[in-house]
Amino acid sequence: MLESVKNSGSLASGSIKIGGGSINNFNENRAVARLSELLALEMGVSPATARQIRAAAGLHDIGKQKIPKSILYKPGKLDAQEFEIMKTHTKLGAAMLSSIQGILGEMATLTALYHHEWKNGAGYWGVPSYYLPDYVNITAICDVFTALVTERPYKGAWPPEEALAYILNQAGTQFSDDLVGVFIPLVRNEERVSALFEGVKN
Ligand SMILES: [Fe+2]
Repeated sequence: MLESVKNSGSLASGSIKIGGGSINNFNENRAVARLSELLALEMGVSPATARQIRAAAGLHDIGKQKIPKSILYKPGKLDAQEFEIMKTHTKLGAAMLSSIQGILGEMATLTALYHHEWKNGAGYWGVPSYYLPDYVNITAICDVFTALVTERPYKGAWPPEEALAYILNQAGTQFSDDLVGVFIPLVRNEERVSALFEGVKN
C-alpha cells in the first residue's frame, strides 16, 4: 500500500482542498476524533468500534487543561524544561480519564497516555508504538496531520500536501508503513475528510 502511495506521482500534484486554520476558531479535537473514526473504518474496524475510537480520540489532549497557558501558547519553541512540562499532558490526561469505567475508559486512557509515541521508540515516553493498540496509533497520525494543517502560536498552517509529504517521510520511523499507506489515500480521496476542515480559513 505504501509503495503505491509513493509511486502515485508528485505529492505536490495532489488535489485535496483542506484549509489551514487558527487554533482559536477551529475545534481540533473534533477533527482529530472524526478523522480517527474515518481512518479506523478505512482499516476495516467495525462501525461500532470506530465510534468508540472517535470518542476516545476526542479526549486525547484533555490533559492540556492542566498545562500552564504560558507554555501551551508560547509563540516560539519550547525550551527543554518547558517541553518536559508539556509532555506531562499525556499523563495528566490519562489520570483524568482512568476513572471512566469500561472499554471506553481504557481506550481513552491509553490514547491520552500514548498518542505521542513513535514506531521506533523516539516519542515522548520511549514506547515503540507497535506495542500499542491500533486505535492509539490511528489517533496519533490523525493528531499530527491536524496539527500540521492548523495554525499554531509558533507556526503557520501547512498546505495539506506538505503535511502528507511529512507523514510519508515519517513512515517507518514515527508511523508504521501500513498506517501511512492507508492514511494518505484516505485524506486525498475522501470527501468526508475535506468536509472536516471546510470553512477553516488560512
Ligand atoms: Fe498531545
